[in-house]
Amino acid sequence: PTVLLLHGPNLNLLGERDPAQYGTTTLADVEERVRALGAELGVDVVCEQSNHEGVLIDHVHAARAMDGIVLNPGAFAHYSIALRDALEAVATPCVEIHISNVHARESFRHTSVTAPVTRGYVSGCGTNGYELALRQVVHLIAERT
Ligand code: DQA
Repeated sequence: PTVLLLHGPNLNLLGERDPAQYGTTTLADVEERVRALGAELGVDVVCEQSNHEGVLIDHVHAARAMDGIVLNPGAFAHYSIALRDALEAVATPCVEIHISNVHARESFRHTSVTAPVTRGYVSGCGTNGYELALRQVVHLIAERT
């Protein structure tokens, strides 16, 4: 099986952007860790990041040919109906992850328009959340087959 690890806007700056909120781990570190866990769990992990809404939507569409999605939509979680609709349109199970505890932050981060069309949600576990999300996606894949 193949799982898409998809990152939205500004997450290419992980490690240098607001370390108090997001830590010092880089995106490359996260991708390496998730790939390594994938190998352990028997799934291939394909990593993508974009700062552009339409490109993210194209990646979600491409994941129709894959078995699962781990998605950090970044700020698009809070307002992109188009990204939400893309997730709803594909049957591939998705788990949403936020590094920070969005519920402990500004009120505009308390809403996720994408979360209701995902199969699970992780927030506030730091970058460990990615491993938690991948484990859940692998669980959903195993349940399906
Ligand atoms: C984030 C939380 C979002 O509110 C923010 O816009 C991000 C990162 C997180 O991983 O904690 O870009 O998705």
